[in-house]
Amino acid sequence: MTQAQQNNQNIAALLLEQRRYPPSADFAAQANAGEGFYDQDPDTFWENEGRNRLSWFTPFTTLKQWDPPFAKWYLGGKINACYNCVDRHVENGLGAKVAYHWEGENPADRLTITYADLQQRVVKAANAFKHLGIGKGTHVGIYMGMVPELPVTMLALTRIGAPFTVVFGGFSADSLGGRLNDMQCEHLITQDGAWRRGKPNPLKPIADEAMAMAPSVKSCVVLRRAGNEVAMTDGRDHWWSDLVDGQSDDAAACPCEPMDSEDLLFLMYSSGTTGKPKGVVHTTAGYLCGTATTHHYIFDIKPETVYWCAADIGWITGHSYIVFGPLVNAATSVMYESTPDYPDKDRWWDIIERYKVTVLYCAPTAIRTHMKWGPEYAHKHDLSSLKVLGSVGEPINPEAWVWYRDHIGGGRTPVVDTWWQTENGMILVSPLPGLTTLKPGSATKPFIGVQAAVFDNDGKEIPPGEGAGFMVVKGPWPAMLRGLYNDEARYRDVYWSRFENTYLAGDGARVDEDGDFWLMGRIDDVMNVSGHRLSTIEIESALVDHPEVAEAAVTARSDAITGQAVVAYVILKGGKDGSPEKSAELREHVAKVIGPIAKPANIVFTPELPKTRSGKIMRRLLKDVAENRTLGDTTTLADASVVDEIAQRAKLEADKEG
Ligand code: PRX
Repeated sequence: MTQAQQNNQNIAALLLEQRRYPPSADFAAQANAGEGFYDQDPDTFWENEGRNRLSWFTPFTTLKQWDPPFAKWYLGGKINACYNCVDRHVENGLGAKVAYHWEGENPADRLTITYADLQQRVVKAANAFKHLGIGKGTHVGIYMGMVPELPVTMLALTRIGAPFTVVFGGFSADSLGGRLNDMQCEHLITQDGAWRRGKPNPLKPIADEAMAMAPSVKSCVVLRRAGNEVAMTDGRDHWWSDLVDGQSDDAAACPCEPMDSEDLLFLMYSSGTTGKPKGVVHTTAGYLCGTATTHHYIFDIKPETVYWCAADIGWITGHSYIVFGPLVNAATSVMYESTPDYPDKDRWWDIIERYKVTVLYCAPTAIRTHMKWGPEYAHKHDLSSLKVLGSVGEPINPEAWVWYRDHIGGGRTPVVDTWWQTENGMILVSPLPGLTTLKPGSATKPFIGVQAAVFDNDGKEIPPGEGAGFMVVKGPWPAMLRGLYNDEARYRDVYWSRFENTYLAGDGARVDEDGDFWLMGRIDDVMNVSGHRLSTIEIESALVDHPEVAEAAVTARSDAITGQAVVAYVILKGGKDGSPEKSAELREHVAKVIGPIAKPANIVFTPELPKTRSGKIMRRLLKDVAENRTLGDTTTLADASVVDEIAQRAKLEADKEG
């Protein structure tokens, strides 16, 4: 791109950013969040939500306890997540309401699951799990695709009080094994394979490798889904159908275990700035209340809403906004098994038209992919049922925001850009449809009670309109992480050591004159590729794990579709030169160690890496090279010529890839 073209693009983006979309009077008149919403006292608000949105075996006595950096919410209460998501809705006469319209990859594979069906499935699975010896406090791993049995498994485990960790199906055996070990899981629930573009993507074979590294796992339940060949180990492995199908579905005979508000619900592993993923701890009552409350107001959920979050349950978005939040609210959701382009690029729009979806929640990467394919795929379908569009996972560029609203939302629908993180459990910053004036590219306002702010280097709050700094939260919120599993020191260090009693999010941000937040991406060694969080150090460790790699440095560059893309600089042992074959081999190696999502988009072979005199790799410079930017300060560099050399090689690499 020439400089003039770049300038024109910047100007166009700026003009889009300056557009304003006040709520329509029609929408505002019926919105869940009415005028005066933000004027409520936050503690009273969360107290009422806790009492009214959730059902308790024993009501809580104290709203919250804040002993920084540790928070507890809804203390003294006894509650069960599964009861709140399933049983009480059936008891309240909503048994015939659809919980999930499940759509398999093969368009002929469809299931309508009502709340009564869901209860039966959950009870049967819970009975089967009990039969295996799973009970209150047993740790269980889950490694599945987007099949109905995945939420069923999560709910069945919460029913009997067993905490779990779901590992995304795109992670490798090493990643799965590491998580099973860290949580000391005694059981693993998986499936033979998941459908991906007409082919089975094997899961059980990977689970086998993972279990070989995780001796705590005593049994494995395998759902037949894709029909691929799998080995079953006698005494350890059981087919789901053999265990579950014959069980009783009598809910009264399999009661929901009363849990403490602060009992562990699940762990979600997330990449940080070191090689080892962090086990983010989420507990029961605050998490349920935080996710369901934000879901209700931010997506304007009504009894007739048909809601679709197109994320994968293997990530926090799926936990909070496909499973727990929507089910607590007795919402009707769509759940889709596979990719947006199977069998064709209009699959999403076909689904929306068929189920008359009213709310769509997805990642900017998906929106940009649809932009690239062209709006004609959407235009073939009647999308007039849509009322609210949501975005999550990465900053949404104003161009994609406006395209989303115009081509998918017919120029009518509010777009809610929701900022939050695995650690947050629930959305923290977002517009409220019908209330907030929208700005393309801005997540706008903190949710009620969320003390979000932007701090400068010295921990002083930067006033609105006065520049960018660190995104922080000054106090606790209901669904916040309660710690990192078995690692209090890291919990304190990562989130609470930079500023006193203040949560450091790791994102850059600014607040404009109107008090609206603009999130600007990570400021640490964490990348965000297609809305998935990846750690530079984790990928570097995967690369140096290859026998021929001497050193590696990883950074991110911007990418028009995936937001960011991984660029790796690699020194081969013995000063060997790289080749396209070696590059392919290393990419596969990263896929094997971490998972295909972590494969570098580009690998640049280099004889040296830029280091400070103390030997620290200067990633900032590598980022400049990757972004093709004018190089930043090189004065602390041990050998400044290294960067020029790398820049030249990177350019050659880029030219080769066209
Ligand atoms: O950088 C922010 C980005 O995603 C990171 C959190 O990633 P993860 O824990 O995987 O959770 C993703 C789904 C909640 C954040 O630190 N991020 C998420 N949402 C937004 C965002 N950046 C800008 N705008 C958003 N709406």
